[in-house]
This record gives sequence, C-alpha cells and structure tokens, in this order.
Amino acid sequence: MMIQLENVTREYGDGKLVHALDGVSLTIDRGERVAVMGPSGSGKSTLLNLICGLDEPTSGVIRIDGADIAGLDDDARTRLRREKIGMIFQTFNLLPTLSATENVALPLRLQGLSRRDAETRANSMLGKVGLAGRSSHRPDELSGGERQRVAIARALIFDPPILLADEPTGNLDSHTGEEILTLLDNLHREYNTTVLMVTHNEEAAAYCDRVLRLRDGRVVKEEVVKATRLGG
Ligand SMILES: Nc1ncnc2c1ncn2[C@@H]1O[C@H](COP(=O)(O)OP(=O)(O)O)[C@@H](O)[C@H]1O
Ligand SMILES: [Mg+2]
Repeated sequence: MMIQLENVTREYGDGKLVHALDGVSLTIDRGERVAVMGPSGSGKSTLLNLICGLDEPTSGVIRIDGADIAGLDDDARTRLRREKIGMIFQTFNLLPTLSATENVALPLRLQGLSRRDAETRANSMLGKVGLAGRSSHRPDELSGGERQRVAIARALIFDPPILLADEPTGNLDSHTGEEILTLLDNLHREYNTTVLMVTHNEEAAAYCDRVLRLRDGRVVKEEVVKATRLGG
C-alpha cells in the first residue's frame, strides 16, 4: 500500500482541545484516487498536512510507501516529501517573480541540479501539462487554469507516486476546473499516480475511485465509486 494511517489523531490547543483529526485509519493503494469531502473545519487539510509531513500527529502511525514517517530523521523526511509526494493547493502557491519554467525547476535546483538540466526537465514537464508555449511567463501573466497547470507540473517534477491536492479546482470556473480534472486523469493514466484530493465539488469526486467523508475529524462515510473517465 502507498499510504496507511492507523488511528491517527491531531489535537490543537491546551485546555479546551480541538480534535482536528480524531482516530482516522485508512489504507490507500498505489494508483488509487481518493476524494476527501466534508464541511469546513472537518479536518481535511489537517489530513493532507499530516500525510505530506508538514505536520505531525498527536498519536497514531502514518506510513508512506511502507516507511513510518515518525521514525525518519529530518533529512530523510525532507527527501521522502520531495521525492514521493507532490502537493498542489487551491491557491497554486507559485513564486510571483519566477517564470513558469523557473517555478517548475525550483525543486530540482534545490536538489542541486544545474540550472540548465533543471530547466530542460521543467520545460518537458510543462509540455506534458499543455503549457509548452507559456514557459517564460510569470504567474501574473497566466490565467488561473494555466497557473494550476504550472503548479501540477511542479508537483510532478520528481515523478512522485503520490499526489496530494487541496481543492485543486476551488478557485477555477467550472470549465477550467474540468480541464484540470481531465489533465489529472491523463497524468494518472500515464504514471499511475496515487491521488488524494480534498474537494467540495461532486464532479471532482466522481473522478475518483473512492470518496471519504469527514466530519469532526472522523471518517463518517466511505463510498466506492466507479471513476468517471474524463476526456478522450
Ligand atoms: N494551527 C491550528 N491551531 C488550532 N486549531 C487548528 C489549527 N489548524 C486547524 N485547526 C482546527 O482543526 C479543525 C480542522 O481544521 P482543517 O483541517 O483546516 O479543516 P478543513 O480543511 O476540513 O476545513 C478546525 O476546527 C480548525 O479550526
Ligand atoms: Mg481546508
């Protein structure tokens, strides 16, 4: 399995504790696509942050590709996060002064790759997300859908087995959102990436194999759905 949680909790505060996650157990296999739905404050972002190692659980175990992330030192955890997990956000989180190429190349540059090699790989990934002609543009010169494509290219630059997405279509109009889902569908077909996606959008959930519904930090419902095939 690719992602495994055993009885994971995350509490905030002292005195009156907030149980952001309250005993979540789940297993996600390689290549599975799982949507996480639930009202605001139900723990969706907490779940993603714990899986990608940006946050640590109060109790419980999280394994990524078999490795218990609590057992890793800082270097190993950073490497795991960089190489195994791509993350995309509702707000894209691109650096405004860098071109599309430079944004996508940044994780490779941080890994020590030469500028030339990093940008060659970045441009090839931009081609895969349909942005070959936009590589020298800065984020403010791109549309919302194009920015999300740049963010997806950056998240996939290490060809990670896991893609985490926090409301990836939340800031896009429905047509552009559908284009992004089609792109994710094509990339899934090519790379068999494991996808865990927070969404409020039933259409985005329908693109997944399974839907987890969270409420007050617990999984209250789990549905297996037959993923809709988008695009061609
Ligand atoms: N850093 C924090 N400090 C205190 N409480 C937090 C923090 N982050 C999240 N929470 C609380 O944990 C709960 C779950 O938050 P979150 O995972 O962001 O929910 P969602 O993404 O589903 O809207 C909420 O009640 C939220 O207020
Ligand atoms: Mg959230």
